[in-house]
Parts: sequence; C-alpha cells; structure tokens
Amino acid sequence: MSVFLDTTKFTDIKKFHEYGIIRGVTTNPSILIKENSGLKINDLKKKLIEIANYINPLPLSIEVNTNDTTNMIEEAVLFSSWAKNINVKITIHGPNGELDNLKVINDLENNKNIRVNVTAMMSAQQCYLAAQAGATYVSIFGGRINNMGYDSIKEIEILRSLLDKFNLKSKIIVGSTREVINVIQWLNAGAHIVTCHPSFLEGMLVHPYTKETVKMFISDGEKINK
Ligand code: E4P
Repeated sequence: MSVFLDTTKFTDIKKFHEYGIIRGVTTNPSILIKENSGLKINDLKKKLIEIANYINPLPLSIEVNTNDTTNMIEEAVLFSSWAKNINVKITIHGPNGELDNLKVINDLENNKNIRVNVTAMMSAQQCYLAAQAGATYVSIFGGRINNMGYDSIKEIEILRSLLDKFNLKSKIIVGSTREVINVIQWLNAGAHIVTCHPSFLEGMLVHPYTKETVKMFISDGEKINK
C-alpha cells in the first residue's frame, strides 16, 4: 500500500521523495494545464522526462490527449518511449461513452508491452472490466464518487475483493482526494495506492499537539544543556 503524488510540481516531488514517503507520481491534462500554464509543449516534455528520471524506478503516469484510438496508441507509444518508468493513462471510455478505449488498453498492455493506467472511473464495475482488459493500474475517483452521493469506500472494498478473488494483476489507485482523512480511509478500504496533492501529506503529518509536545521537549532540553 502506498501514496503517489498527483502533481507536476518538481519541488514538491523532490521534497516528498527525499522524505521517502511517496511511491510514484500521477498527472492528468487538467493538472498539466493548471500547474504549467504558458509552458511550451517541448518544455513540458522536458519537465515530464525530468520527473520520470528523478523518481526512477518509481512510476509516472501521463495521460493521452486525444479521443481518437489510432492517435491514442501513437501517443502512448511516444510517452512510454520517454522513460522506462512512464505508464500511460487512458480513460475507460470516450466523452460519449465510446467503448473502443478498451481495445486500445488491451492492445497496449497485451501486445505492445506498455503499462496502462485506466482512469476517470467512478465505480467498481468499470474498474473490474478495465482490469479484465489487462490494466496495470485502475484509477477510481473517490472524491467525485462521494460528491455524486455514492460511497467511495464501498466501491473500493468491492473492487479489491474482486481483483483478489479473480487474481487480476491491476493495482487500485484512488484519486480525486478531497479531505486529508481520505488517504488512510481509502488505503484501509483496500486501495493499493492513493494519489493526492502534496498538501494532503502535510495535513497528515503536522499535528498541533505534536507541535506543542516538541516545543516542550525543546524548552526542557535547553534547561538540561545549561
Ligand atoms: C487521479 O489519477 C486524477 O489525476 C485526479 O486525482 C483526479 O482528481 P480530481 O477529481 O480532483 O480532478
């Protein structure tokens, strides 16, 4: 069980990598735009390769930016050629429910030896079918599930039990983190991985009572040293 960072911010990645508490990095087109506005495509490519090399052998997920299946395969082949530890994110289906994404996922995983992170999933049943198609990672969006009035924890529990029961290799990534408590709740429910913004890890680490206790130790320690 582990935590990934859902960001392209190199300073945050470096910081938490040096702490030894992250096991990978995920991105998506919205994160790329939000965190890198104005960056030219070649500089973005350079940055993603820099992140992949820095965290190597930990995995980096990069999402394809097309809804055309032929272009998807081309982009997937391109992105995965940038570094060995890059895997490619493909949404479970297209914006109008187009199903051929599964053909791409199956082809990349089973014929082209490219690791796929199937993304934008809102239910255990979607993830289960993505796992059947061979996905290395199945990304379920816990916060969005909760926002729709469904129970993300239930979906994660069902999904984990199905993957284990049918011996499917996919690892569950839960994203769309909204609250600090989501991280341990989702890991406890059966997620192999939770991916989150760096601020959630800070929220998990820093506790007001720990601050107070450390202050007490420091002030008493100063008395001993005198
Ligand atoms: C996960 O892989 C996604 O990148 C991300 O967590 C989606 O989160 P959002 O619902 O905040 O967009």
